[in-house]
Amino acid sequence: MRAINASIGFDRALWRQDIRGSLAHAAMLTHVGIITREDEAAIRRGLDAIAARIEAGEFPWDEGLEDIHMNIEARLTEAVGEAGKRLHTARSRNDQVALDLRLWVRDAIDGLSEQVRDAMRALAARAEEHAGTVMPGFTHLQPAQPVTLGHHLLAYVEMLGRDLGRLRDCRARLDENPLGAAALAGTGFPIDRHMTARALGFEGGPMRNSLDAVASRDFAAEFLFCCAMCATHLSRFAEEVVVWTNPYFGFVRLSDAFTTGSSIMPQKRNPDAAELVRGKTGRVTGALVGLLTVLKGLPLAYFKDMQEDKEGVFDAAASLALSLAAVAGMARDMRPDAARLEAAAGAGFATATDLADWLVRELRVPFRDAHHVTGRLVARAEAKGVDLAGLALNEMRAEEPRITEAVFGVLTVAASVASRTSFGGTAPENVRRMAAEWREKLA
Ligand code: ARG
Repeated sequence: MRAINASIGFDRALWRQDIRGSLAHAAMLTHVGIITREDEAAIRRGLDAIAARIEAGEFPWDEGLEDIHMNIEARLTEAVGEAGKRLHTARSRNDQVALDLRLWVRDAIDGLSEQVRDAMRALAARAEEHAGTVMPGFTHLQPAQPVTLGHHLLAYVEMLGRDLGRLRDCRARLDENPLGAAALAGTGFPIDRHMTARALGFEGGPMRNSLDAVASRDFAAEFLFCCAMCATHLSRFAEEVVVWTNPYFGFVRLSDAFTTGSSIMPQKRNPDAAELVRGKTGRVTGALVGLLTVLKGLPLAYFKDMQEDKEGVFDAAASLALSLAAVAGMARDMRPDAARLEAAAGAGFATATDLADWLVRELRVPFRDAHHVTGRLVARAEAKGVDLAGLALNEMRAEEPRITEAVFGVLTVAASVASRTSFGGTAPENVRRMAAEWREKLA
């Protein structure tokens, strides 16, 4: 029973929040006259001493006392006597743990949001630096159209920007106080839940339904979704780093700071940090699915099943924090090989769309026909073993007699990206402007 029941092995991570909640509760109990000023002073003194002991790593955690709440309360009572025993008036561990986890998630959101911003700053800075560096754009991982590296990196900045917004929304929604719901039904004591809500910085005031307050963990599930989505974005970037650093691509190089060698193969530079970012996404998504599964069959109100909410939340937040740091670090560290990127950008007939667009624009050929003519020209070039610019004008005219010398002007990679000036397009001038906007926004 002790082994399955105890949560102190992991919920001690809530100690700051637990003490913060108890201090607010004690102050409120005093304010409304349920305990005396002397009791409150003793509680405050006792909790301060406990915080110091935990901080110093000297707190005697006791598995027999189940969880963080009982561990702290038992030591408090040991230290200050009667007053410690009065602290739990008009409170239950059910509202206490709901409060602690809410406060913990709120703090975690603040920390992670700052890290997301840092990763965005790192990516946006590299994007600005490489606004004009061309690279292949892919669909199906096949050469599609040239893009700029800056544009590619800013795509991740946009994704992370939405992740940041999701964390902000999640924070706003969870910012309500469950304390004072007591076990499930509220209490007959004349408590002031608005006062504790203010003291604990809950913008949304007290939760309006005591059953909901102790039974709901949607705030934790929503937080886990925010983490899983962000981890998924980081994982896609990490996968690109794995591909890009592969010598057959050779698009970017990572320093020894973010790669490892092999114990047997002396030439190896393995992108372990990127692989781990990709791998950790599994844990974060697992935590989300795990919590939803814990909750799905629970009638109201509290069940011990809910004790299973914490490890996934702690682990997801820690995994995401590591991943964000790794991505920010790799973004700053990576050295793109501009020559190689440019060569790759032009390969695979990547400017075929530019040729088709030229036929539409200059010769007023309907796009579907232009697509067809260009396809034939690609086939000719392929047979000849050259790229589109390697075809002679008369070869082009064999497919479309009205083609002129001017067509060669749109077949270069530089011309291709420079032409993509539509809003949100990859043209270097667009990328420079967007990267500068992000830099200012994130400053
Ligand atoms: N350790 C418990 C949890 O994490 C705290 C709440 C316990 N409440 C109870 N009625 N046993 O959920």
